[in-house]
Amino acid sequence: MIYMSVTIGTPLQASAFKVLLLGSGELGKEVVISLQRLGVEVHAADRYDHAPAMQVAHYSYTLNMADAEELKQLIEQVKPNLIIPEIEAIATQVLVDIEEQNIATVIPSAKAVNLTMNREGIRRLAAEELGLPTSAYRFADSIESFRAACDDIGYPNFVKPVMSSSGKGQSRVKSFDEVDAAWEYAQTGGRVNQGKVIVESQIDFDFEITLLTVRAKNAETGEIETQYCDPIGHRQDAGDYVESWQPQAMTAAALDESKRIAHKVTAALGGCGIFGVELFVKGDKVWFSEVSPRPHDTGLVTLASQFQSEFELHARAILGLPVNTTRHSVAASAVIYAGVDDRNLSFSGLNLALSNPDTDLRLFGKPEGFKRRRMGVATARAETTDQARELALHTATQVSVQQN
Ligand SMILES: Nc1ncnc2c1ncn2[C@@H]1O[C@H](COP(=O)(O)OP(=O)(O)OP(=O)(O)O)[C@@H](O)[C@H]1O
Ligand SMILES: [Mg+2]
Repeated sequence: MIYMSVTIGTPLQASAFKVLLLGSGELGKEVVISLQRLGVEVHAADRYDHAPAMQVAHYSYTLNMADAEELKQLIEQVKPNLIIPEIEAIATQVLVDIEEQNIATVIPSAKAVNLTMNREGIRRLAAEELGLPTSAYRFADSIESFRAACDDIGYPNFVKPVMSSSGKGQSRVKSFDEVDAAWEYAQTGGRVNQGKVIVESQIDFDFEITLLTVRAKNAETGEIETQYCDPIGHRQDAGDYVESWQPQAMTAAALDESKRIAHKVTAALGGCGIFGVELFVKGDKVWFSEVSPRPHDTGLVTLASQFQSEFELHARAILGLPVNTTRHSVAASAVIYAGVDDRNLSFSGLNLALSNPDTDLRLFGKPEGFKRRRMGVATARAETTDQARELALHTATQVSVQQN
């Protein structure tokens, strides 16, 4: 088979190859930078002005992306070649229509975006269609069915609104006494007040990983091939990542099983790009938890550990270019929080934070901080993951956030 050559035009001119980013957070910002380096014209959208990725895009737009009409109008106006959904709160039916009518390519595919925006879609695909190992689970959409689901699954269990991310509305229910409070909390934390939750049995894992999995075309044949980054270990606090490291040591059998699961789920979702496959590991046993059809927050560590970060891998894969997932260093990342609710914040101590030559920082430039909002990340390289974690955490704590 003869493979067509990949061609990119000149940004801001008629030949431009255009990408529309829906959601302009810190992960999107790095994707934009990677795309800019390859001469792509980038349009970035979000619900508020001056979002991180907007600051490095050619054009930016502020709108409600969950509104189907607003989203359709934007796509008609920009006429992008590719649409990259960077968040889950999007009118995904519009993307399904756009893909069907061949107006633009949705990254990685409209199906992937549609299924992963809702925990029910991806869980049923993984467990029921693909037969992958997961925690036991039930869905519930009323307090009565929720009480029954909790009793069925047992305690402790995890309760999550089906439309939520970053731990919002999530709780760990230890006994029947806590069931009603968990229901109330889930009702306030979901993205869309749909009411439905998933109840999952607790997996007693040794550690959890993100297996970054890339579907990219072979440069000669054009066939989509699956490649994996080394496993990333991470620590979550209240459902939100606080530090990550690469590689996470694990048995050869567990790594093989992780790749098998990642291959199956990403092949079912389809398209090209990077996926963050979240897995729980105990000895040789692995459970599928969830998957992001885009760069993953725990993968920020790859900025320090790999020749091509997860953002460069994503940019290349979606453009039809070959990728290299090789890691060159042991590294870790640690999150920097705002610690206060305020706008116009300053970050000091940066000189001290960066005094070790094996450290680096990303400050995302978010116009407003909240106590638990991620404003930046510190990365560090070292001989071992323990040393890298210690150095990354130390670097993050050297940065102090100040109100003006
Ligand atoms: N069934 C489970 N058993 C044990 N731990 C769990 C289970 N479900 C969730 N957790 C813990 O809670 C964390 C967050 O869960 P999950 O990834 O489903 O939520 P999320 O809101 O999508 O988070 P994020 O957006 O940060 O990935 C997991 O990384 C894990 O540490
Ligand atoms: Mg998760």
